[in-house]
Amino acid sequence: MLKLNVALLSLALLAAAAPGPPRVVRCSNGKTTANAVCCKFFDVLDDIQENLFDGAECGEEVHESLRLTFHDAIGFSPKLSRQGKFGGGGADGSLMAHSDVETLFNANNGIDDIVEVQRPFAIKHGISFGDFIQFAGAVGVSNCAGAPRLEFLAGRSNNSRPSPDLLVPEPFDSVDKIIARMGDAGFSPNEIVDLLASHTIAAADHVDESIPGTPFDSTPSAFDSNFFVETLLVGTLTPGNPIDPAGGQALSPIAGEIRIQSDASLARDARTACEWQSFITDHARMQSKFRAAMSKMAILGQDRSRLIDCSDIIPVPMTPLAKSATLPAGKTMNDIQAACKATPFPTLSADPGPATTVPPVPPS
Ligand code: HEM
Ligand SMILES: *[C@@H]1O[C@H](CO)[C@@H](O)[C@H](O)[C@H]1NC(C)=O
Repeated sequence: MLKLNVALLSLALLAAAAPGPPRVVRCSNGKTTANAVCCKFFDVLDDIQENLFDGAECGEEVHESLRLTFHDAIGFSPKLSRQGKFGGGGADGSLMAHSDVETLFNANNGIDDIVEVQRPFAIKHGISFGDFIQFAGAVGVSNCAGAPRLEFLAGRSNNSRPSPDLLVPEPFDSVDKIIARMGDAGFSPNEIVDLLASHTIAAADHVDESIPGTPFDSTPSAFDSNFFVETLLVGTLTPGNPIDPAGGQALSPIAGEIRIQSDASLARDARTACEWQSFITDHARMQSKFRAAMSKMAILGQDRSRLIDCSDIIPVPMTPLAKSATLPAGKTMNDIQAACKATPFPTLSADPGPATTVPPVPPS
């Protein structure tokens, strides 16, 4: 009977996944995946959903875990390598293995929290730090409403050297500087925007330390386009301390929401504004472009052909978005600073009710 089921399942997969040789392996826990190497990730999945993400939430740990995927991976500079220097190993887990060095970098302010929370999970399950960071990011994103199912490839070495400093972009960097740095790592201006869809499930603890957990958009647990709409509203206020001691803060349009200078500038720069605007009314495009850019980012410094595709371990995101793009309550189309010359800004209606204010993301 079991044999028959396996045969039927293989047949079904063969039909669904043609061409290409379909593979299916039954793990000791009875679950199936594409490769025996992936089996151990089922246990990691159950453990982190329960004990890292507080029962598959899209909360602070998910946001921090996603930020960590970037800060580990972007430590990768072919430009430094061409100068005969060590350019960093990319998505190699160096931020966790050499946290004594890398968490001291200015751009990594606050990243030590999630590094220390994740480390015991990685060690307990015997997963390399590089694999663990990207796995936790992909699983975490799947908990957010409207998220795409990200790719996950396993097999990164656990050996790394500390990344050089100054490779992680800062919120006070100019668009020229960000495009140059991200270009060095292999990303086009549009792909920077694609990656910044991450800021729709994000908050800041250290841009203004007096108001930790202040979100970048009004819906930090939904992978929706509100971030791309709200960054284009006229800025009118600072949500906390108006002095901006850390640097890199821009005026925000909504009480309780924070805007960083780099997001404000990228939203309005001719090189990035059209990609930015395109996501407002095309959620499927936002999902697929984010997924593609994340696939590229997650294997910086790695050789794709030497990694094993364990994407089928990543949960299929189940929660759909509640609604399509709107303006926050209290705003009108006159508050939009449209910046894409090629395409008119879409006409959006505003949410009903008193002006939107955004509560902080609760710490957990
Ligand atoms: C132009 C490049 C980028 C800049 C300048 C930037 C800057 C920032 C800053 C200043 C924060 C707030 C950190 C804090 O104060 O706690 C932040 C948060 C965050 N960033 Fe970025 N970021 C960039 C790109 C990215 C990318 C490519 C990703 C992921 C793919 C990402 C994911 C996140 C997430 C998820 C958070 C929220 C963390 C939390 O809520 O704890 N960022 N980013
Ligand atoms: C990875 O290296 C760290 C030390 O940096 C070690 O604690 C951990 O057990 C190693 N993990 C694996 C899977 O080898």
